[in-house]
Amino acid sequence: MSDGWQESAQAWIASQGDEGDFGRRWVMDAPMLERVRRRPFRRALDVGCGEGRFCRMLRAHGILAVGIDPTEGLIAHARTLDPEGDYRVEAAEALGFQDGTLDLVVSYLSLIDIPDAAAAIREMARVLAPGGILLIANLAGYNSAADANELGWTTLPDGRRAHAMDHYLEEKVGWIAWKGIRIQNWHRPLSTYMTLLLNQGLRLTHFAEPRADPGGDPVRAAHYDRAPWFMLMEWEKPAFNPASG
Ligand SMILES: C[S@@+](CC[C@H](N)C(=O)[O-])C[C@H]1O[C@@H](n2cnc3c(N)ncnc32)[C@H](O)[C@@H]1O
Repeated sequence: MSDGWQESAQAWIASQGDEGDFGRRWVMDAPMLERVRRRPFRRALDVGCGEGRFCRMLRAHGILAVGIDPTEGLIAHARTLDPEGDYRVEAAEALGFQDGTLDLVVSYLSLIDIPDAAAAIREMARVLAPGGILLIANLAGYNSAADANELGWTTLPDGRRAHAMDHYLEEKVGWIAWKGIRIQNWHRPLSTYMTLLLNQGLRLTHFAEPRADPGGDPVRAAHYDRAPWFMLMEWEKPAFNPASG
């Protein structure tokens, strides 16, 4: 059964525009790029690159970035926008890259869209060179546990608005729809991701829940800061990997 991405590709492209949607443009881009600028990365892989926006940003920083995504319509658009780039139709669960060949692997808000997170994280760790970095932006589990179509916001009996969620520890897949996009998302609690990453012998070197930049729209930014929305994690593959023996 389709996960909705192929059918949603054009609506997704429209939702991102030139600069990305609000959460990317005003919340996550700056802290993600701040981590990228801290080291002289040379060869990067963007897993679930969509229409290639973050790959283009990496390439603008002089990094040789390859983008992979299983959604053909998105990869076709990425190639149109960046004909010199390297964009491939491929899934995270079986990466066509050799072991230890990349010094930066990025998953920018793609983990909740990937059906087999265990295989994907194993593959991301495999292709990283010792000393390499896995940079993850993910939707907070608190958020993905909410009623996706209401985006978790509900009215309390006293009239206040609050963010609600339930069954946080239960993993589930569900449909979410907005702006002509209709896709499946996998809710997993934070411990699922942490365990999978730790089991690969990766070491957490940075963790953040970035605030929205009020420069875009102060009212909207304040709204973003009311509930856990995004998280940023940076994991390093040790030069000696205890998990591999
Ligand atoms: C929310 S979009 C994020 C796209 C891009 N990283 C960005 O931030 O604009 C999630 C992406 O995950 C991709 N995706 C779905 N299943 C995947 C899989 N098995 N492996 C890799 N990517 C997948 C979708 O095609 C989609 O492009």
